Amino acid sequence: MFGVIRKALFQLPAEKAHELALEGLAKSHALGAAKRMYPRVDAPLRVMGLEFANGAGLAAGMDKNGDYIDALGDLGFGFIEVGTVTPRPQPGNPKPRIFRLEKAGAMINRLGFNNKGVDHLVGQVTKRTFDGVLGINIGKNFDTPNEKAVDDYLACFNAVYPHADYITVNISSPNTRGLRDLQGEEALNQLLRTLANRRRDLAGDHGRRVPIAVKVAPDLDSEAVTAIAAAVSRHQMDAVIATNTTISRDGVQGLKHAEETGGLSGRPLLESSTAILAALRDALPRDIALIGVGGIASGRDAAMKIRAGADLVQFYTGFVYRGPTLVAEAARGVKAARGNA
Ligand SMILES: Cc1cc2nc3c(=O)[nH]c(=O)nc-3n(C[C@H](O)[C@H](O)[C@H](O)COP(=O)(O)O)c2cc1C
Repeated sequence: MFGVIRKALFQLPAEKAHELALEGLAKSHALGAAKRMYPRVDAPLRVMGLEFANGAGLAAGMDKNGDYIDALGDLGFGFIEVGTVTPRPQPGNPKPRIFRLEKAGAMINRLGFNNKGVDHLVGQVTKRTFDGVLGINIGKNFDTPNEKAVDDYLACFNAVYPHADYITVNISSPNTRGLRDLQGEEALNQLLRTLANRRRDLAGDHGRRVPIAVKVAPDLDSEAVTAIAAAVSRHQMDAVIATNTTISRDGVQGLKHAEETGGLSGRPLLESSTAILAALRDALPRDIALIGVGGIASGRDAAMKIRAGADLVQFYTGFVYRGPTLVAEAARGVKAARGNA
C-alpha cells in the first residue's frame, strides 16, 4: 500500500508530496484507519526520567507547527518531536528547498525554519490527544542576530515549558546563518547557563522539571565534541540529540541535486552521525541520555545506534523512503539491542 502511495508522491516536488502525505494522514486519523494498521510496539523504557512506550521517535522538522501530532501518533511512535519553532512566524527560504536524492536514500533541505511561530504551536500541542512523549524543538528567527539569540530561545522556552515532555535546543541546523556558531564553547555555555537558570525558576512555578536536550551537528571535530560534552554536563542538561543534517556531500557526489545548498540527511549520514554519537557517549557521564538520529532506514540501523551509545532513536528521511513500517521495525531494533546490551 505504501509502495503505491510513495510512487505517486515521488512524482511530485518533495515539499508538495510532504504536504499531501501529512494531509492524507490527517484524513486517515479522522477515520481511525492508520491506528488499526500500525499498532504501537510495546517496548517500554525510561529515559530522561520520562516513560516511553518504545524507543522509536519522529525527528524534528516533519511537523514543524504541531499540526499533525495525533495523525503521526497513530503510526506507533514512542515519541514525536515537533518544531523547530521560532518566536515569530517566518516563511523560510524560497522554494524549491527540499530535494530527494533517491539513489542514495537521501534528501537535501534548506527550508530555513519555515514555521507559524510559537503561539500557534502551543495552541496545537495543547489540543493533542497523542499519549506518547512529546518533544518541542526550539530555535531562533532568521533575522535575530546571534548576540540576541539567547532571547529567542528564552521566549520559546518560556512559551513551551508547560506543554512539553522535553525541550530540544536546536543549535545545529545549517540553514539559518550563524546558528551552528552557537555550538562554540563560549556561546554554548552562555545559552545553556541561561536556560538552566530559567528552568530552575519554571520548575518551581510549575512543579515539574522539564528535561532539556541539545541537538548537535555531525560536522564536529573531536575538540568540539569534548567542549559540547563539557558544557552539556556543566549545565545539567538531560540529553544530546546526535545529529542534525550534514553540510558534507560524501556519498552523494555526482548525483542529481547533490550540489544543492542545504543539509544532507538519510543513508549517507548514517556513519558520520553514529561516529559523533559514539564520541559523545565516551565524553558524557552515563546519566546524560543520547538520542541517535541520522540515516536510520531499518531496524538494524536503529539497533546500531543503540549499540553505539544511544538510549533512543529518531528518524525523518528513512520514514519518507520506507513509510510507517519503519516505526515498528525501529522500535523492535531498539528493544533487541537494549536487551543485548
Ligand atoms: C526536510 C527536513 C526538515 C528538517 N527540519 C528540521 C528542523 O526544523 N529542526 C531540526 O532540529 N531538525 C530538522 N531536520 C533534521 C532531522 O530532524 C534529522 O536530524 C536529520 O534529518 C537526520 O536524520 P534522518 O537521516 O533520519 O533524516 C530536518 C530534516 C529534513 C530532511
